[in-house]
Amino acid sequence: MNPENEADDSFTLTDNGTGESWKLPARTGTMGNRLVDIKSLYGTTGLLTYDPGFTSTASCKSDITFIDGEKGILLHRGYSIADLAEKSDFMEVCYLLLYGELPTPEEKNSFNTDIKHHTLIHEQLARFYSGFMRSAHPMAIMVGVVGALSAFYHDSTDITDIEQRRLAAHRLIAKMPTIGACAYKYSLGLPFPTPRNNLSYAENLLQMMFSNPAEDYEILPALSRAVDRLLILHADHEQNASTSTVRLAGSSGANPYACIASGIASLWGPAHGGANEAVLKMLEEIGSVDRIRKYIAKAQDKKDPFRLMGFGHRVYKNYDPRATVMRKSCHEVLSTLGIQDPQLELAMRLEEIALNDDYFIEKKLYPNVDFYSGIIMKAMGFPTSMFTVMFAIGRTVGWISHWKEMLVDDEQKIGRPRQLYSGKKQRRHISLDRRGHTEKKISWSWLWGGGR
Ligand code: SDX
Repeated sequence: MNPENEADDSFTLTDNGTGESWKLPARTGTMGNRLVDIKSLYGTTGLLTYDPGFTSTASCKSDITFIDGEKGILLHRGYSIADLAEKSDFMEVCYLLLYGELPTPEEKNSFNTDIKHHTLIHEQLARFYSGFMRSAHPMAIMVGVVGALSAFYHDSTDITDIEQRRLAAHRLIAKMPTIGACAYKYSLGLPFPTPRNNLSYAENLLQMMFSNPAEDYEILPALSRAVDRLLILHADHEQNASTSTVRLAGSSGANPYACIASGIASLWGPAHGGANEAVLKMLEEIGSVDRIRKYIAKAQDKKDPFRLMGFGHRVYKNYDPRATVMRKSCHEVLSTLGIQDPQLELAMRLEEIALNDDYFIEKKLYPNVDFYSGIIMKAMGFPTSMFTVMFAIGRTVGWISHWKEMLVDDEQKIGRPRQLYSGKKQRRHISLDRRGHTEKKISWSWLWGGGR
């Protein structure tokens, strides 16, 4: 305790080898864990910390989203995901994430109108698609086309200009459904769709994806509500891999379109946003209820790379609250469409068996947002390859909100992690004629990790 008897909110680091000690300040947010502030550690001690995967490391401070993994709590600007999914729509959630408050009716109308007036894509941008094979994965197209937006919108790439930042944010939210729907239509050899400003964001996404220019297209309100809820559930999730990628890209001053393209690339991985596609493939592979226990055993076998897709989470050690909403929505969509999907039955049995399995209980592995989302999207007619595109469309507002927050954070600087070096010590150069005689021959497989 210090002389004024104030609580000494700090930690002491001691080098047991030299007996040296250093005091490190504690940081506490409005909610969540206490943190050790190590910003000054290297400067004062010459020491670095080691934390691959950032399992114990906060990369920034943020007001946007709060997750309590132990309790399964997810808040956006203080509002629970269950409340937002039930009582708000995606445009309101976009406004909330971007501007910090739920919009008034006037603010909502003005935001909606602005988004609607940025949904078209430049005709020359549409030509980018013809460079892809028709069989290209739509996420490959999303990375390329979204990154190319910076070549068209020079009036919104100056990150120091608040109006240009706003314009870029609104453009990206508005254009992602159009870019995604064009990727799907391109794969089918069908004409590109045109957004319609008399429709809501979710209705527009459905009509651009599934309408046929030769026929009328009827939008089922239950489906547009399900799509809107799906987008809300994917909108943001704190410092996940793709959001951290966007923040890191943005910390160098890269333009917003390039930063969002980097987030799309990171989201594509099966350990992250690609898991929804992987869940459907896993359910197809399991095939029937009697094979579930074989796959539950595979998931626990350290020698087997198989993992139960849609299960587990870095932060949630309880049920992902989004999965709860998604599960309910899944039943609603399937009953609205009158679909008896055996894969939903299989998924529910798999969940029931896994949640009662000692390994999953001990590791605190629960279904995450990706476990049910694929089943809903498949029921609505989305092809598996478009599942992660839908995730990216929802997550764009989260990515751009974090990008915006990072740019005005006075503590932020270019992200440049350090490392634990485990390579060779300095050694003399060897001329070409003398190589291969002195050093161990290294095989290509060893170079690419086969030798680990
Ligand atoms: C998303 O970060 C986010 O917020 C992401 C996301 C978002 O909205 O942005 O929520 C979206 O990406 C959800 C996650 C989707 N991915 C999957 O469903 C893929 C399957 N899940 C796993 O790959 C894994 O659970 C991760 C990647 C999600 C989390 O991995 P972690 O935090 O690195 O945990 P871990 O790999 O260290 O697992 C801890 C233990 C390990 O066993 P031990 O080494 O301790 O013996 O649990 C095991 C793992 O082997 N484990 C699993 C498992 N997930 C973890 N074992 C079997 N099946 C699984 N799914």
